[in-house]
Amino acid sequence: MKAYVFLVLNIFLTYIPQGLSFQSLMPSSVSDFTNLRTISKRQNKAIGILKSSKQQYETEIINNRNIFYGYDRPVVLLGCSSATGDELTKLAESLLLKTNSEKLGQVVHIKHQGLTDVWQLIEGKTFQWPSVLILDAGDSMESNVDDISFFNEHARKLYEDMGYLCVYVNVHSSILQENTIERKAKLENDTFLKYSDYEICIRDEGFVKDDTNNWEHIEWEFSRLLARAKLIPAIPGDKEQSANSAHLTMGQHTFFLSLSFSDVKEAEPYVEEMCQDIDAMEYRVDLLQCRESRFDLLYGMQLLRKYCRPYAIRSAGLPFGDTLIEDNMPIVFTVRTKNQAGTYPDDDKGITTMFELLSWGLRGGVEILDVESGWDATKTTSLLNRAQERYSSQILGSYHVVGKQIDIEDAVDLFTQCRFSGRAHGVKVVLSIESEAKDRMAYEAGLIASELAAMDGEPDIPTISLILGEVGQFSRVINFAFTPVTHQSLPFAAAPGQLTASEILTVRLLTGLLTKQQYCILGHNIAYSVSPQMHGAAFAATKLPHEYTRFDVSSVEDFIESEFFKSEDFGGASVTIPHKQSIMPYVDVITDAAKAIGSVNTLLVKKEFANDEFKRVIYGYNTDWLGIYRPLSRLLQNSVDSESDYALILGAGGTARAAAYAVSKLGLKCIYYNRTPSNAAILADSFGGSVVDTLEEHSDSGKSVCDILGGKGSLRLIISTLPATSNVLIPEWMLNSDGINPILFDVCYKPYSTPLLEQAEKAGWRVVRGSEMLWEQGTGQFEIWTERGAPYGIMKNTVLKNCLE
Ligand SMILES: *[C@@H]1O[C@H](CO)[C@@H](O)[C@H](O)[C@H]1NC(C)=O
Repeated sequence: MKAYVFLVLNIFLTYIPQGLSFQSLMPSSVSDFTNLRTISKRQNKAIGILKSSKQQYETEIINNRNIFYGYDRPVVLLGCSSATGDELTKLAESLLLKTNSEKLGQVVHIKHQGLTDVWQLIEGKTFQWPSVLILDAGDSMESNVDDISFFNEHARKLYEDMGYLCVYVNVHSSILQENTIERKAKLENDTFLKYSDYEICIRDEGFVKDDTNNWEHIEWEFSRLLARAKLIPAIPGDKEQSANSAHLTMGQHTFFLSLSFSDVKEAEPYVEEMCQDIDAMEYRVDLLQCRESRFDLLYGMQLLRKYCRPYAIRSAGLPFGDTLIEDNMPIVFTVRTKNQAGTYPDDDKGITTMFELLSWGLRGGVEILDVESGWDATKTTSLLNRAQERYSSQILGSYHVVGKQIDIEDAVDLFTQCRFSGRAHGVKVVLSIESEAKDRMAYEAGLIASELAAMDGEPDIPTISLILGEVGQFSRVINFAFTPVTHQSLPFAAAPGQLTASEILTVRLLTGLLTKQQYCILGHNIAYSVSPQMHGAAFAATKLPHEYTRFDVSSVEDFIESEFFKSEDFGGASVTIPHKQSIMPYVDVITDAAKAIGSVNTLLVKKEFANDEFKRVIYGYNTDWLGIYRPLSRLLQNSVDSESDYALILGAGGTARAAAYAVSKLGLKCIYYNRTPSNAAILADSFGGSVVDTLEEHSDSGKSVCDILGGKGSLRLIISTLPATSNVLIPEWMLNSDGINPILFDVCYKPYSTPLLEQAEKAGWRVVRGSEMLWEQGTGQFEIWTERGAPYGIMKNTVLKNCLE
């Protein structure tokens, strides 16, 4: 508390008289760019990777896409099960259950017999995700001289020749039988580790019969690993792929907690409170007693996730199958070396093992891997290559200057070095200073380095700029992205200068660095709207001070002329019926999606600095299409044939346009039906596709759905944008037709269920309700307004609670 009072006073005394604002935080040395640029060019060989243009980065990343992105083939489990636990088989079966795919998936054991059958299955392509192949050398195996080479050869074939996603299920030797322990020791290095990318560790969960409490988390962890493996790769500077963008993970006013315990178990009592304030946990490997044991390190990380799960309310969802994992606390995996404010040995041997530890972090499916930027260039490059080719982890390039003050040119170079020539997703540089007068140095150097990078066409990535110690406290206040913090619930004094997230937010609020913004839903007759509850809950969970209200007017001009709109505090709005089009003349910048759809459902106010003054600019987005696109892309993943798959869109209003836009992004062809066909024809003009004049199987005009599908097409999707009262029903012939059932998406969210949804559910179709669209487009709005990940579970549950009532 003392440090905090001191800090507030300090900031008021030092900065308030000058008038503290973003403007006063602009670096004084921006004008020295050219000079800095030359210096930085000269010294920029630090990690020995040549600069390439922005375009090259992008092609490189797309070509080397994480090989498991969009993965649709079987999963392979390698390892040794215990006699009573039968861990590999249990995990395999859990996957089929969780993906609702008992029908599609199979679990096959590769044993001595039946092998030919297994390869036939594989070659016949009947064996696909979420099927599981098990290569178990565990207790149930007869030990046999050929065992080792048998397992080695088959693992190699599956991993190298087939390119399958292989997971090593590492069951602790303490629950294995004597001969299995021996076999495991022989197989571990050259088979299990060599031929797998991920690893899950099991100590004794599932060993004791009916101890389902413990086992549940192992199944969860297995799902999480597979979800990470299949996740879209993180692209540096990417601001759109919200499932894995550093821009949101390391977003504005996000915090991570540096765990300084030597045993992760000691953290358990504090986790509940800590999770209220932070967005990620830093797993400081160098501080852990067990740092030399791969099993213990990975297992410890699993424990940490397990402790956090019930409280991980700020987490953005992690897509898995057709749902999301909502209770995952992201982990930053860090091995801090001695000369960088850590404890890991930094001699040659230490650095070699440090790189090995980092690769273990990748095997554990970490969200963020902290890579110190000052070490061996070859080792660094090979780690970055491996991460980029096979994993979805984000790379945080880091450097800590301890015990000496460097000048700003060198500081800029460090930031540049940490970008790994555009391969890092975020950078973190921590400096030391001698006097408080320099406490903006890290901030300024970070800003300059970002400008230089932009001039070189490098991606715009989150920058964490800090100064060590109490003298650097202010640097933590003005560092908005992913600030490392301590927590008030922890019993020991934090490292000098460490502040808590709530201290930092309080100071930002008091000094006007963070101001309370007003948001609203703009519409007419919107008393029913659930948006105020949903966004209110999201702001509360992320500890942002903003407010969200209803603004109910019949004419959009009443809004534009209101004090609310004109106020300095106006941060943005959700826009709904009937104002989605009429608001457009008042928007300064309309995004491409909103232009194509022809309506705006989200306003964002930005204060932009130009010609020596701040100007208010209103941006207009459309997130309605995201609300349709996201759930459907999870349900349809990888199974769309853009030649023969169709979507039928009912209705021709604004939401139908968003639906057509989403369908075009999903790669299906569109069929439109509307009572007034001429309105449907306008949609077909904008987005392509065909109009039908009836939903009956046949039509005299030759323009029925059947006619368009012909013999070859298949109807994969029906999206209804009609009101619940429209009386339009799915015709019998569609309900009874052969082939894959279509998915029915009804955008109505009140009532919770509609006649269409009931019909489809009765026929056994997959359905998506309007409530899901509501929270999915809402998370999109939240991300636009706050530039950080949305608390997915909170938003979803608030909508469901209010829709089900
Ligand atoms: C496996 O590799 C590790 C690390 O390289 C080594 O310490 C260990 O002795 C190896 N085990 C066997 C059985 O070869």
